[in-house]
Amino acid sequence: MTAVLGFGGYVPDRVMTNDDWAAIVDTDDEWITTRTGIKERRFAADDQSTLDLSELAALTAMKDAGLNQDDIDEIVVATDTPEVYTPDTASLLQDRLGCRNVPTYDLGGSGCAGWIQAIDVARARIAFEPKKVLVVGVELISRLISWEDRATCVLFGDAAGAVVMGPGDGKAELLDVISGTDGSKADILTLQTGGTRHPFTVESAAAGDHQRLEMKGSEVFREAVRRMSAVTLELLEKLDRPLSEVALLIPHQANKRIIDAVGHKLGIEEDKVFINVDRYGNTGSATVPLGLWEAYEQGRIKPGDLVVLTAFGAGFHWASAAMQF
Ligand code: ACO
Repeated sequence: MTAVLGFGGYVPDRVMTNDDWAAIVDTDDEWITTRTGIKERRFAADDQSTLDLSELAALTAMKDAGLNQDDIDEIVVATDTPEVYTPDTASLLQDRLGCRNVPTYDLGGSGCAGWIQAIDVARARIAFEPKKVLVVGVELISRLISWEDRATCVLFGDAAGAVVMGPGDGKAELLDVISGTDGSKADILTLQTGGTRHPFTVESAAAGDHQRLEMKGSEVFREAVRRMSAVTLELLEKLDRPLSEVALLIPHQANKRIIDAVGHKLGIEEDKVFINVDRYGNTGSATVPLGLWEAYEQGRIKPGDLVVLTAFGAGFHWASAAMQF
């Protein structure tokens, strides 16, 4: 049995509203609200970086679990916006938290599905050898997106979420995870510059290519709805649990219209679908652990509740996880 021992999260203080964006690019509150449901998002302070956000989320999860840095046996960080190119954010986090020389690694590039994939990896590691694994989902997207591309910049925000997982009993049991990938759809959401295919050059940096997130919006929308609803139903079927037993669905928070469409396709009541995209925007691999932490903190999850998490991300990846509180 794999348990979640503690939940944590962190959002920066700086609020960036739709009107704030309208003062920078050619957009307005009405367009952003009707297309995405986003009203505001949080941006990290100038002196904060991915490691700072990770640390603050990790500390809340460790405190909630009643554990200190010496209790952590492994660290996984899911992020597409790492602290530096090399080494991984997880090794820097190990040092920052003052943990022992335990194994650490990043799960990067999986976009917004990365954190659910990471808890699946942690689950396998715990089954292999009983240990306590810190799993962080973090994104500091405001520093890596183009502040000139209105089609993408208004969608994102900065945040971190975390859990500590371990064997035996805890606050929730991780019942199962199902994930999948369709690599043939890699081009519908991609940031190319900086890898070996398109290394950085002075010219590409000057042209802002390293911030050019390319997104086929309507295709991402379609795939997101199709995959998140299908993998959620597949997971419930595998667990032999009807949808009516789900107390709360926490979907990846990219866009309220996507969330509504998934809810509609599943046929789940609106009040059972968690939404905070209006306040934080799309925080990448942080949305699901952040939502989980908020729902838990707000008392929206009660003992006995079945909670389902689902996400999609660049890859194209999708994943669902079920937790029994
Ligand atoms: N403000 C005003 N107008 C804008 C803005 C903006 N911020 N951005 C784009 N527009 C314009 C476009 O230029 C276009 O103008 P045109 O018709 O003159 O060419 C018009 O609005 C319509 O653009 P569309 O892309 O067709 O708008 P659409 O209704 O498809 O909505 C959106 C765009 C919100 C991105 C939608 O496609 C979507 O939600 N897709 C899913 C993508 C997503 O959620 N990605 C999240 C990141 S990835 C992840 O989470 C894994």
